[in-house]
Amino acid sequence: VTADTQAPGDGVISTRVGKIAFVGGGNMAQSLVGGLIRRGWPARPIVVADPVAAQREKLARLFGVRTMADNARAVDDTDLVVLAVKPQDVAAVCDQIRDTVSRIRPLVLSIVAGVGTTDIATRLGGVDVIRAMPNRPALLGSGATALYATASVSDVRRTRAQEVMDAVGTTVWVDTEAQMDVVTAVSGSGPAYFFLLIEMLEEAGSALGLDAAIARRLAIETAHGAARMARETGASPVLLREQVTSSGGTTAAALAVLEDARVRDIFRRAVAAAAARSAELARELADR
Ligand SMILES: NC(=O)c1ccc[n+]([C@@H]2O[C@H](COP(=O)([O-])OP(=O)(O)OC[C@H]3O[C@@H](n4cnc5c(N)ncnc54)[C@H](OP(=O)(O)O)[C@@H]3O)[C@@H](O)[C@H]2O)c1
Repeated sequence: VTADTQAPGDGVISTRVGKIAFVGGGNMAQSLVGGLIRRGWPARPIVVADPVAAQREKLARLFGVRTMADNARAVDDTDLVVLAVKPQDVAAVCDQIRDTVSRIRPLVLSIVAGVGTTDIATRLGGVDVIRAMPNRPALLGSGATALYATASVSDVRRTRAQEVMDAVGTTVWVDTEAQMDVVTAVSGSGPAYFFLLIEMLEEAGSALGLDAAIARRLAIETAHGAARMARETGASPVLLREQVTSSGGTTAAALAVLEDARVRDIFRRAVAAAAARSAELARELADR
């Protein structure tokens, strides 16, 4: 199908759009579908399969996409399947779609946390699998997603997968699957680190006499502003930090306390613990 569609503010997008089937219509699938539609993708070639009627009605009502309860029927005649179910449902879902998928050999884009490409490819009769690890802010279109594909997957298919994940934020590629555990530790768990920082800044400000609501607002907007500066200037965080730290000043006093407490070392250990836990959870899942 060739579709010419008008996206608000984006001008005319002319793109070849084949059928996309989402298996699982939960939070992530809804964000991805919403992101694609907002970017001007036509609703007609998008199909979502979910066992829950309320979920299907919501998707149809909000985005005008086709929905169904039958996974095997949803993936029929498609060249892109997005696997968006919970890790514990992967085995059952793969059983349901294996016959169809191994016959038509679509690209399978899996956003299922902790399940390896080899595992999914094997369950589906050796098809191309690309794995993506989005994070929670993807639900607002501000996600950070890492993608991984095995060497045999074509560039055209990589681009196709990336286009889908681009709909909910920034995307990067990693070149070994083991790095997905590190991605999980950095950007997957990452929002929690920043929430903790906001929480601590609020607490510290309020302990020193600021109204808690004011301290919270200042902390949130400061996090937002700092992230925007890092993104929009493209300058290194080291340079940005140095630019706001004059010697003998207030920022320098705070940073000295943090460095004395070995905050870098603590952070390195924290992220390493998350990566190790990610690998461990993946092994537990594979052994089930
Ligand atoms: N949300 C995030 O921030 C995030 C971040 C990174 C990775 N992920 C990964 O993305 C995947 C989806 O996450 P999510 O947040 O979208 O989860 P979710 O909201 O629970 O969505 C999963 C959906 O799939 C449905 N489902 C369950 N069994 C099914 C079946 N047999 N056939 C078809 N659909 C089925 C679920 O229905 P029921 O409600 O009936 O179970 C639910 O609607 C997970 O593997 C998660 O690890 C999510």
